[in-house]
Amino acid sequence: MKISKVNQSRINEVDFSNLPFGKVFTDHMLICTYENGQWGEPEIRPYGPIPMSPATHALHYGQAVFEGMKAYRKDNGVVSIFRPEANFQRLNRSAERMTIPPVPRELFMDGLIQLIQLDYDWVPAGEDISLYIRPFLYASSEFIAARPSESYVFCILLSPSGPYYSGAVKVKIEEKFVRSADGGVGFAKAAGNYGAAFYPTRLAQEAGFTQIIWTDHKNHQLIEESGTMNVAMVIDGVFRTPALSDRILAGITRDSILTMLRDQGYPVQEGPVTVDELLTAAREGRLNEMFGMGTAAVISPISHIGYRGQIVEVPTPTDGLSVSIKKALSDIRLGRTADKYGWMHDV
Ligand code: COI
Repeated sequence: MKISKVNQSRINEVDFSNLPFGKVFTDHMLICTYENGQWGEPEIRPYGPIPMSPATHALHYGQAVFEGMKAYRKDNGVVSIFRPEANFQRLNRSAERMTIPPVPRELFMDGLIQLIQLDYDWVPAGEDISLYIRPFLYASSEFIAARPSESYVFCILLSPSGPYYSGAVKVKIEEKFVRSADGGVGFAKAAGNYGAAFYPTRLAQEAGFTQIIWTDHKNHQLIEESGTMNVAMVIDGVFRTPALSDRILAGITRDSILTMLRDQGYPVQEGPVTVDELLTAAREGRLNEMFGMGTAAVISPISHIGYRGQIVEVPTPTDGLSVSIKKALSDIRLGRTADKYGWMHDV
């Protein structure tokens, strides 16, 4: 691997006590190009612009996928990545769906580790802050015929980041727009899935909501996801979350929470939750809590649900499941409890 380091770090310009999400980038990035049917030599170089032609394929057809993952600084000062293998696997599942060649494991893992080693001092310590890692892959051929690109770029950026949301969110059950459909790309972290969600999300925000609860494309009767996150609700003491399908992103936070809850013997049900069932449970006081689960926000409690002009309140108990499971995850990430599932990968 080729490594060119910065002459002078920018780390002293950063206010680590007031980090936004995803706006500050470390000194270096990893970049590797795929040409003539193979990946070239990866390079770590100073973070900065990637010169590109206006005919760069990804700009026209959105043949691009990404990942979101995090590294933490444990209480003992060691930096550790959370479940990198799971993100690696998912990146290549997304890539396959978007006709992008897979990234070899060694390129992903060694590149990631060497990059973090170089920018080790940038990994913040603390409860709600971490190093957000953004691996991405895009089509880089210089042609605008609507067929798959022939060259690709794999890049990893590192961004020390604070919390994604502050406080509980107000969500609107969406009945017009859809995020995904059977046979579509909803399960993939395809760039366009996020871009396409901005417009309906903006409309919801103009109506006073923070985020959307996506429903199924056929009848808008099944709860699917919450904004950019998987969604869960506790109804009558049972943790419920929609089962994975090609419409739902296989969230790694979702999977981690399910694993921990099953291990604790907590009642868990992966399967359909209808809008009617959710609202009836809320009105009858049987909806104990509801939250989004994702890498960026980890757990994002939901305080209000909007549906057809009505607002239903959702409890956000400070001694509830979302608080305790977030703490249990954080204890593993910060090295406060044993890493019994082997999720942490020390750098
Ligand atoms: C995540 O929760 O990691 C996401 O996918 C959010 C990201 C689009 C910022």
